[in-house]
Amino acid sequence: LTSESVLKKNLTQYLVEQQRQKKTVTADVRLLLETVARACKAIGHAVSKGALGGVLGSLDSENVQGEVQKKLDVLSNEILLEANEWGGNLAAMASEEMDTLHRIPDYYPKGENLLLFDPLDGSSNIDVNVSIGTIFSVLSVPPEARDRVIEEQDFLQPGVRQVAAGYAIYGPQTMLVLTVGDGVAAFTLDKEMGSWVLTTERITIPEDTSEFAINMSNMRHWEAPVKRYIDDCLAGPEGPLGKNYNMRWIASMVADVHRILTRGGIFMYPRDARASGRKGKLRLMYEANPMSFLVEQAGGMSIDGTQRILDVQPTELHQRIGVILGSRNEVERVRQYHEQG
Ligand code: AHG
Ligand code: MN
Ligand code: MN
Repeated sequence: LTSESVLKKNLTQYLVEQQRQKKTVTADVRLLLETVARACKAIGHAVSKGALGGVLGSLDSENVQGEVQKKLDVLSNEILLEANEWGGNLAAMASEEMDTLHRIPDYYPKGENLLLFDPLDGSSNIDVNVSIGTIFSVLSVPPEARDRVIEEQDFLQPGVRQVAAGYAIYGPQTMLVLTVGDGVAAFTLDKEMGSWVLTTERITIPEDTSEFAINMSNMRHWEAPVKRYIDDCLAGPEGPLGKNYNMRWIASMVADVHRILTRGGIFMYPRDARASGRKGKLRLMYEANPMSFLVEQAGGMSIDGTQRILDVQPTELHQRIGVILGSRNEVERVRQYHEQG
């Protein structure tokens, strides 16, 4: 037994190195990410208690998007707010579960960062004991807002401006997957030590794949290019794509993206012909942008059908968008299907 094998590289060391040597994060962002990771530890703990912690089931409330809130949606939101309010490195937060932004109260010092999150992703999987997660994104306060009260519009920055993004996944293992713009690193929670241990230093998504993830029950609502692509996948070796495809759909974006970061694949929640869902289901600021940043940093590609998601100029905090992401060559293939109309 050596001290090296006992004291493995952890999140703190990774972030200190990023700050000192690579200069990808400021001390403020480093502390912020440590705090988010700490909140995710607490959420993961609550998740794992399940019925024993009284955390399963729904509440009577709905969020701003008209979705029934689960107890864990609200609890996770509160944990993230409380953990991040007092550190002095944030000006405001925004969440899928809150109507509008949450400014740091006057009795705490304010910082120059904005934090956005989907506190509990994959809500429909909570009560059935399937992997769920937390997604987060960090932006800087725009220069023109440094000396005034933060407004919703200050959050409306394209995804390319993210300073950091990541997710925690509460599955068979609890993991944190993070980018600060220098590749994607994965940490596994050592529950005895309470430490996020660096387990993969640089994730890369295989460029090719024959595995797709899409909710097939929506097929009749999809836009035509997506329908044609999936038809071609299903045609197998005799079809135009000339090979067999496999399908996975977990219905937790975190878990589906985690699989793609691990072994490749293509994930699609496309734009939709229904009036209610035209722009897709997933939220640009809390889901699409942070996941697109991770996927691109791992060598993958992420588009809304035609456009790179990270270039989209947001117009509303709770805006929805079509999402097609994953293995580079396969996403490029689907982009070409869109080009053909
Ligand atoms: P959330 O639980 O935060 O509302 O997100 C659920 C999202 C996403 O995680 C997943 O990919 C998708 O909804 C699943 O949607 P369907 O139930 O329509 O398959
Ligand atoms: Mn979600
Ligand atoms: Mn959610």
